[in-house]
Amino acid sequence: MKLHIINGPNLNLLGRREPEIYGNQSFNDYLDELKQKYTSVELSYFHSNIEGEIISELHEADDNVDGIILNAAAYTHTSIAIADAIKAIETPVIEVHISNVFAREEFRKRSYIAPVVLGSISGFGLRSYALAVESFLD
Ligand code: DQA
Repeated sequence: MKLHIINGPNLNLLGRREPEIYGNQSFNDYLDELKQKYTSVELSYFHSNIEGEIISELHEADDNVDGIILNAAAYTHTSIAIADAIKAIETPVIEVHISNVFAREEFRKRSYIAPVVLGSISGFGLRSYALAVESFLD
């Protein structure tokens, strides 16, 4: 099974960005752990701070992978364009968040992405990504 992780803005700073919310581990370190844990899964990874690049990556990944794990970060709460891109492709997408977005500021409670994805996982730290992998494996 081929799964593609797409991370949005500021997630390249994981490990040093607001560690009290997002933890101390860099995403590259965590990705290594995921790859070691799920050896049967071909895991690829893309990060961008730019909305249009995330949209192009969703188009690009369509038909090339079995599932997409998307943390659109702050674009979750603003981007109709990313929601439209998810609707436009065939590949199933799972939305993930490291923090529990429902336990934070009001503006984080709105996700434009939630209605157009297979499901959403929020609040389990970096383990949210592992739970998304597990969901695809089921
Ligand atoms: C986030 C939650 C978003 O509200 C925030 O803008 C992020 C990260 C998370 O993974 O918890 O950048 O998507």
